[in-house]
Amino acid sequence: MAIERTLSIIKPDATRRNLTGKINAKLEEAGLRIVAQKRIHLSPAQAGKFYEVHKDRPFYGELVEFMASEPVVVQVLEGENAIAKNREVMGATNPAQADEGTIRKEFALSVGENSVHGSDAPETAKEEIAFFFSGLELVG
Ligand code: PPS
Repeated sequence: MAIERTLSIIKPDATRRNLTGKINAKLEEAGLRIVAQKRIHLSPAQAGKFYEVHKDRPFYGELVEFMASEPVVVQVLEGENAIAKNREVMGATNPAQADEGTIRKEFALSVGENSVHGSDAPETAKEEIAFFFSGLELVG
């Protein structure tokens, strides 16, 4: 299996509730290594750019406003099959549909305030990592 990197974001609903450590523990228990991590406060313009792919969806404005409302923790996770593994440990977008033991089942408040983001494919992972991190910040 390939060693991959994926972009993860711990969202404002989770940083606000001091859940960064608990979420990181779940990621690490799943075999994902946090190779870069920083806490930032996105501007609405930055959040809008990151979620540009969803700009025609009805929830876009709400999503951008939420992601810029309070600090987030952005991180790069590395491991075997990291993109799929992270999505598995995150759980379904809507916490009501998430499996037991997943981050969203345990911590998410709603489909919008769902605690974490994870890249969905190798190409998006590459783009999303480059959106937040320079090569110098990535420690293997
Ligand atoms: S997926 O799995 O990423 O394709 O999920 P999707 O349903 O397409 O949702 C994409 C992101 O939009 C967020 N979302 C919402 N935000 C606010 N309100 C509503 N109703 C809503 N529905 C979906 C969802 O949390 C996804 O965020 P990310 O950060 O990409 O996981």
